[in-house]
Amino acid sequence: MILLGVNIDHCATVRQARYRGYARIEGGPVEPDPVALAVCAERAGADGITIHLREDRRHIQEHDVWRLREASRTRINLEMACTPAMIEFALKVKPASVCVVPESREEISTEGGLDVVGQRERVKACIEAMNAAGISTSLFIDPDFAQIECSAELGAPWIELHTGAWANAWHTPERADEFARLRAGALRAHAAGLVVNAGHGINYVNVAEIRTLPHVHELNIGHTIISRALFTGIEEAVREMKARMNP
Ligand code: PXP
Repeated sequence: MILLGVNIDHCATVRQARYRGYARIEGGPVEPDPVALAVCAERAGADGITIHLREDRRHIQEHDVWRLREASRTRINLEMACTPAMIEFALKVKPASVCVVPESREEISTEGGLDVVGQRERVKACIEAMNAAGISTSLFIDPDFAQIECSAELGAPWIELHTGAWANAWHTPERADEFARLRAGALRAHAAGLVVNAGHGINYVNVAEIRTLPHVHELNIGHTIISRALFTGIEEAVREMKARMNP
């Protein structure tokens, strides 16, 4: 069974579009509530909830993370930049896992994943702090052997393969090559002892291919589920995705 992490950031994006700067982020007229959405997603079978607390706070707010911690009955996966402030916050919140993602230009590798090789020491310090607190670290990287091997060397238990290049190539001749890269990356990561997750740009159509990736443990999916939920409701959207992931 491949597990599903539902990313609820886009629900917060809709809320912020209307209520940014409002005195409260929940209750009264303020909608939609990403935490309430997460609870419904869990009821429908989400195995975990993923949220990205961005430095610019463009969607999820700190208070959402604390509220989610109270309300969630599954696992929280906190996506974050590799900065001292975010590490401190994660150590206070203690999610089940953190996924380190690039936010500034210098952290980004050529394809868009985290440049673990280029900032070994920073990433190592983050992994060690999380390991000591019992929080699993996942590194959001491209299917690049150097990045994968460096992630394993630094003691990260998990990686999340960046599926964006493959998803963007869906209607192009490059798609097969992109999938072959993901496949080779998944095999290499598994051989190095890493748990292999994947995410970014996965949807109800391309999930048929990504679910065949070897050793994939969990898919983190946001945009397509939130979009589908506008028509079917979140519970049906989650059930449908889980059925397509594990037919
Ligand atoms: N994984 C990571 C690391 C992400 O940053 C995101 C959001 O951009 C996702 C997965 C989910 O991507 P999407 O919204 O395209 O499904």
